[in-house]
Amino acid sequence: MEKITTLISEENIEKRINEIAEMINKDLKGEEVVALVLLKGAFIFAADIVRKLDMAVEIDFVQLSSYGDGTISKGSVDVTKNFSVDIANKNVLIIEDIIDTGNTLYYFKKELEKKSPKDVKICVLLDKKERRTAPIGADYVCFDIPDEFVVGYGLDYAQRYRELPFIGRVEKE
Ligand code: IMP
Ligand code: MG
Repeated sequence: MEKITTLISEENIEKRINEIAEMINKDLKGEEVVALVLLKGAFIFAADIVRKLDMAVEIDFVQLSSYGDGTISKGSVDVTKNFSVDIANKNVLIIEDIIDTGNTLYYFKKELEKKSPKDVKICVLLDKKERRTAPIGADYVCFDIPDEFVVGYGLDYAQRYRELPFIGRVEKE
């Protein structure tokens, strides 16, 4: 069994999301935005952040898989569910739960750029900078975290714990 301890509280997540949404509202003011939400992990984060945006936003969902049911990356990315909105000449905002090695977002951003968007920005809840291997960063980061496996607020460990309202670290017992 694992034990979950709080890393980032519900209150701190809410505060930080307000700050990040304000930055996005400033940067993309008056623009048409397509928010592409990476399933499953980003569903709660996306639901909270899009409700703070004040420009015109279209929302669609994508599922990529780079992880099995554990904590080890496979190092390749498959599209399990693709999006259907037209992104040509639009500002795309990718919403993702966490950027770790960066493989998932590096691959996905490259695919998006083939469809002639006006611009692509990446917004993540969490950034594990020390684990990065792909040459990519996020434009908006709510929290930098150390190299620890975390769950909650959408993130899972073997499909568990997504429903937790806070971000917790997993400690093996
Ligand atoms: P990357 O391709 O290595 O950047 O991996 C990104 C994906 O790995 C995220 O979308 C998550 O699904 C998963 N991931 C990485 N670290 C964690 C973690 O600490 N908890 C839960 N999922 C994680
Ligand atoms: Mg994910």
